[in-house]
Amino acid sequence: MTLLCVPLVSKTVEQMVADMAAAKACGADLVEIRLDHLSNFDPRRDLQLLLDDRPLPALVTYRPKWEGGEYEGNDKQRFQALCLAMELGAEYVDVELKVADDFVRLISEKKPENFKLIISSHNYQSTPSNEELSSLVARIQAAGADIVKIATTAVDIVDVARMFQVIVHCQVPMIGLVMEEKGLISRLLCPKYGGYLTFATLGAGKESAPGQPTISDLLNVYNFRQIGTDTKVFGIIGKPVGHSKSPILHNAAFKSVGLNAVYVPFLVDVLADFLNAYSSADFAGFSCTIPHKEAAVRCCDEVDPIAKSIGAVNTIVKWPTDGKLIGYNTDYVGAISAIEDGIRGSKGVGKDETVSPLAGKVFVVIGAGGAGKALAYGAKEKGAKVVIANRTYERARELANLIGGHALTLSELEKFHPEDGMILANTTSIGMQPNVDETPLKKQALGAYAVVFDAVYTPKVTRLLREAEESGATVVSGLEMFIRQAMGQFELFTNLAAPENLIHEIVKKYT
Ligand SMILES: NC(=O)c1ccc[n+]([C@@H]2O[C@H](COP(=O)([O-])OP(=O)(O)OC[C@H]3O[C@@H](n4cnc5c(N)ncnc54)[C@H](OP(=O)(O)O)[C@@H]3O)[C@@H](O)[C@H]2O)c1
Repeated sequence: MTLLCVPLVSKTVEQMVADMAAAKACGADLVEIRLDHLSNFDPRRDLQLLLDDRPLPALVTYRPKWEGGEYEGNDKQRFQALCLAMELGAEYVDVELKVADDFVRLISEKKPENFKLIISSHNYQSTPSNEELSSLVARIQAAGADIVKIATTAVDIVDVARMFQVIVHCQVPMIGLVMEEKGLISRLLCPKYGGYLTFATLGAGKESAPGQPTISDLLNVYNFRQIGTDTKVFGIIGKPVGHSKSPILHNAAFKSVGLNAVYVPFLVDVLADFLNAYSSADFAGFSCTIPHKEAAVRCCDEVDPIAKSIGAVNTIVKWPTDGKLIGYNTDYVGAISAIEDGIRGSKGVGKDETVSPLAGKVFVVIGAGGAGKALAYGAKEKGAKVVIANRTYERARELANLIGGHALTLSELEKFHPEDGMILANTTSIGMQPNVDETPLKKQALGAYAVVFDAVYTPKVTRLLREAEESGATVVSGLEMFIRQAMGQFELFTNLAAPENLIHEIVKKYT
């Protein structure tokens, strides 16, 4: 079982004691007491206060500046404090590989039976090759470690795959973590690869190293205690990806149907490199978001005909038997059905009407990226007269040619009014948090539209939707599209019906 360790980085002993109790209440297995963060640290007085009556096992670390910590004094005093922590019953002490020989000599005769020495090495620039990592493990083991700890830095998410391999092959307990946001999966998927522990904070701002998740997210979003060697990994590939609500939604949905699976964010630079590094059957399916939806078409072995026509894949499923990647697009059904239901709802018409309310209407799409293509294709399929307006006119023209529509520049769109009662769909990121005051089309131009949809769903009501409603249009939120495309993905990932009520509840709670 991988342990959950909360780092304590407060400046005062009193706060650390309070944080220890909070860590226990949150479900941590142990705490890391970072002595180098304490102001006016007095070893004899403070270690007693910290270690007596502690509610959880303690790992004591006194990290020097030269290894990324705060301590600037000499090693003699540092070692004395760490020795004292061991004598007072700390379960673990962490010491750096560079000085491990001296420390091991110092404690050799005194090591209590259940005490464990962690010998650590930190690389704040990069993650070395497999060979270099393996040789580092061997050196740490030879130095006398009970537990090997290696923390490196992710320059690219593919770096984490090397760390996973090294942990799996390590003969002694190992903590192997890759720092920074691109290394997040090294922390989330620790139990799958048998890492000895992972660090999780009590809250934002309480990290001891870059990229640590909160303990609440680990336990409540990622269902950390349920992750094991056989757990299938799914996730969202994007850049940026940290804001995505998909992990909350998919993990809750997996849990509700009892599936042994976890869904994580993948901050990816180059899609092909990522898919190559995580090609094992353990990585079973992916959602794709900005800016990878178009590259995903090229990276899949097979692409569903609709996704191929759209030219964008937002869902990749790995075929378990041969590892082939199959690409789909669930954005298109999600968005179009949300707009159709929005129109039918506003007219009080039943959902199962056979003719689409989009048929024969002018349907203006702003944007020609992944979402724009899906909306334009879907509207065309439903018999609408599609018009594409885009910042880069050339892309609008290409898309219009592809689906048989008309292209406009953004400034032409301001005066575009061939008829009343048109439908407008924004598929650019204009108006998305934090730029909530921006809008893709001035309010004066909105009077021509009977229905306005915005793919942006953070915030739920964008400036475009607010002004469209004030102009008398029926508005459809991007959240509806988000819910429906996610349900489509869940069904492709699992072959099970999506838990619709649960998904609505979660979206309501988190937006
Ligand atoms: N609700 C949902 O479920 C859902 C699903 C998918 C996407 N979305 C949202 O839809 C938006 C687009 O996603 P995508 O995957 O289609 O992205 P994408 O492929 O990168 O395309 C972005 C589009 O937005 C245009 N654009 C970006 N910034 C602009 C600006 N400042 N001014 C004018 N145009 C701008 C781009 O124009 P150029 O061609 O000139 O670069 C391009 O047409 C995002 O906000 C995303 O969150 C929502």
